[in-house]
Amino acid sequence: QAFSLNFSLLSKFINEEEKNKYTNIISLIHEEMHAPTSNDRDALGWIELATKQDKEEIDRILAVANEIRSQSAVLIVIGIGGSYLGAKAVQDALTPYFSKKSGETEVIYAGQNMSGAYINQLLQYVDDREVYVNVISKSGTTLEPAISFRVIKSYMEKRYGEEMKNRIILTTDPENGLLRKLALDGGYRSFEVPADVGGRFSVLTPVGLFPLAVGGIDIQALLDGAKQATNDLMFSNYKENEAYEYALSRYLLEKKGYIIEIMASFEPSLRNVFEWWKQLFGESEGKDEKGIFPVSVTYTTDLHSIGQYIQAGKRQIFETILHVRNQQEDCTIQSVENNFDQLNFLEDKTFHDINTIAKNSSILAHYDGGVPVIQVEIDKLDEYHLGYLLYFFEKACAMSAYLSGVNPFDQPGVESYKNNIFALLNKPGYESLKDELEERLSE
Ligand code: PA5
Repeated sequence: QAFSLNFSLLSKFINEEEKNKYTNIISLIHEEMHAPTSNDRDALGWIELATKQDKEEIDRILAVANEIRSQSAVLIVIGIGGSYLGAKAVQDALTPYFSKKSGETEVIYAGQNMSGAYINQLLQYVDDREVYVNVISKSGTTLEPAISFRVIKSYMEKRYGEEMKNRIILTTDPENGLLRKLALDGGYRSFEVPADVGGRFSVLTPVGLFPLAVGGIDIQALLDGAKQATNDLMFSNYKENEAYEYALSRYLLEKKGYIIEIMASFEPSLRNVFEWWKQLFGESEGKDEKGIFPVSVTYTTDLHSIGQYIQAGKRQIFETILHVRNQQEDCTIQSVENNFDQLNFLEDKTFHDINTIAKNSSILAHYDGGVPVIQVEIDKLDEYHLGYLLYFFEKACAMSAYLSGVNPFDQPGVESYKNNIFALLNKPGYESLKDELEERLSE
């Protein structure tokens, strides 16, 4: 089986009777998601991205990506939040830990922070390498990518002159925003973020697909996995739809005080898949003083840091363990002559065997310590299974947010800090907020 979930370690915490009560409401939410009558229809385009693929667009993505792969050592991807986390998640999950495949174009991210040191060092790093740039911002107004793009665009102008126009590709809203204007007026090549797909649901649009194609990822296999998930997860009854059963289980756990979800894996390469997952759920659910706080860990590393808390700290956490059943690469323990470390009993076991036993041991220990555990398993770590997994979480996230009565697709809370930044940076129009904030800061 390519993908499976196991809820058996929840039975002590929630029961079938409680779940059954939500059968109808889940079906109703499902119907509304698939044939929306409300404004949310404007944000539900992600549901069918993989089943209604735009062949022409994919061919164009591959053509531009191949051009970059043949001509450039580096692609700088400028974006923040949903505009970079999906690509980075898949890229990092499928890239060797220590060496790049020779001849591959390196994909480097910028605009996801405002560190001057980061941008300076990035430009120094690429100075003796051929560079292309992909700036991704649906709105075109987000400050972090905007200031990085300003600096990187000037660098590209100085370095490449007029040719820089061919080396900068914009990914933005089809009609609106400053980047769309720049694409139209300035003659830059561009891709579209569909108007009805929000940032954190956009990994299967050019936002994710283009950088991934440049990085040598098989985007067709990624879409195929997502397509399979779309078909598997189209049933309205949660008993036939694992995304909805996951959403319902989380919802019932939250109602019982389990307000923190720890996403855990024993594969370090999944670290950035979890960063993507955290943003997806945190930004979709955390509103109106509701929502589960998403946290992620890598085991067994983190068993030696916050493992103690998970085992025996305040009981408000549940765990979702993502296990990769088969490893393409492994390392076998050999016996040694003098058994100096007394580990000969492990002879012929692989690291993956031991890691899997560590996983099973931790699950049982945490469960015994009062932690509800949901188990997710994928057959192997490749494009197909990641595509499946990403879509699974998107579908679950939308259902989960709707169940708790919040809109999964907006993020009004993000505006508060942005307004403060603009006011304190003297952006015209923010004068009275600036005075108020400065007074508070001087106290
Ligand atoms: O999920 C979201 O909508 C956000 O995280 C955005 O992706 C993020 O704020 C970046 O926005 P933009 O692409 O408009 O620059």
